[in-house]
Amino acid sequence: MTEARSPKLHTEREGTGGTPRPVEALALSRSYTLGDGSELAILQGVDLAIESGEAVAIVGASGSGKSTLLHLLGALDQPTSGEIRVGGRSLTGRSSQELARLRNRFVGFVFQFHHLLREFTSVENVMLPGLIDGRPRGEMRERARELLEAVGLGERLEHRPGQLSGGEQQRVAVARALANDPVVLLADEPSGNLDTRTSEALHDLLFQIREQRNLSLVLVTHNRELASRADRTLLLREGSLEPTEISREDTWSATTADRETP
Ligand SMILES: Nc1ncnc2c1ncn2[C@@H]1O[C@H](COP(=O)(O)OP(=O)(O)OP(=O)(O)O)[C@@H](O)[C@H]1O
Ligand SMILES: [Mg+2]
Repeated sequence: MTEARSPKLHTEREGTGGTPRPVEALALSRSYTLGDGSELAILQGVDLAIESGEAVAIVGASGSGKSTLLHLLGALDQPTSGEIRVGGRSLTGRSSQELARLRNRFVGFVFQFHHLLREFTSVENVMLPGLIDGRPRGEMRERARELLEAVGLGERLEHRPGQLSGGEQQRVAVARALANDPVVLLADEPSGNLDTRTSEALHDLLFQIREQRNLSLVLVTHNRELASRADRTLLLREGSLEPTEISREDTWSATTADRETP
């Protein structure tokens, strides 16, 4: 249905044979050119393969490049070198318009701050990704209603973000991220602004959604409780990823605020 409107994407999706991985990164590097002309290398050869339905937590000290990596995976930024594949489609060599379309269609984002549109109600915010993808308004309104009910906000459909609590705003953001049935949900400190109890409710929701939809989750977090729920945890250090265990002596949180309330 959706695919029929994007013949090119449709062909690519079917062309691969077998189910492509939701997200893959190969030898990914990202550096920034500073004002004085020097290069600041942030990611230096990151390899990552996320399986369908898998939940992966990415941890690391502040400034290690976690958000940079997530933005690359979600086509919000482009690598200096290396390749990213989303749902089997390479992002290399795409126009910004194509990247925007792929992002909207295949990736759901949840950020630390909800980034909802203040003038719009919950339903309207959740409808937007579908409308951008060219879906009929009536269909999207119905889908938005269902998604908001699924995240426990059936009674807050017509509220604007300013009329919702922080946890409710994040739940609207989760519903919006699911609007186009993405292959992966990328979350950057999704509970970073929430108290412990509200955080745990949001984490429950993310993992419930993962179960129900076999959705892949990539979770960037300083929150030990969230990281411990993932199938595996990767530590971003000195520009690359390495497997790690969550323990009380985590070095990755030592230099950062561990935003859990006591
Ligand atoms: N546009 C830019 N130009 C130069 N340096 C940048 C730019 N954007 C990010 N950086 C640098 O890249 C590094 C990684 O930033 P990033 O936001 O990915 O860190 P992070 O791991 O998400 O940190 P935090 O846990 O604090 O959110 C930082 O040192 C930052 O200063
Ligand atoms: Mg960050």
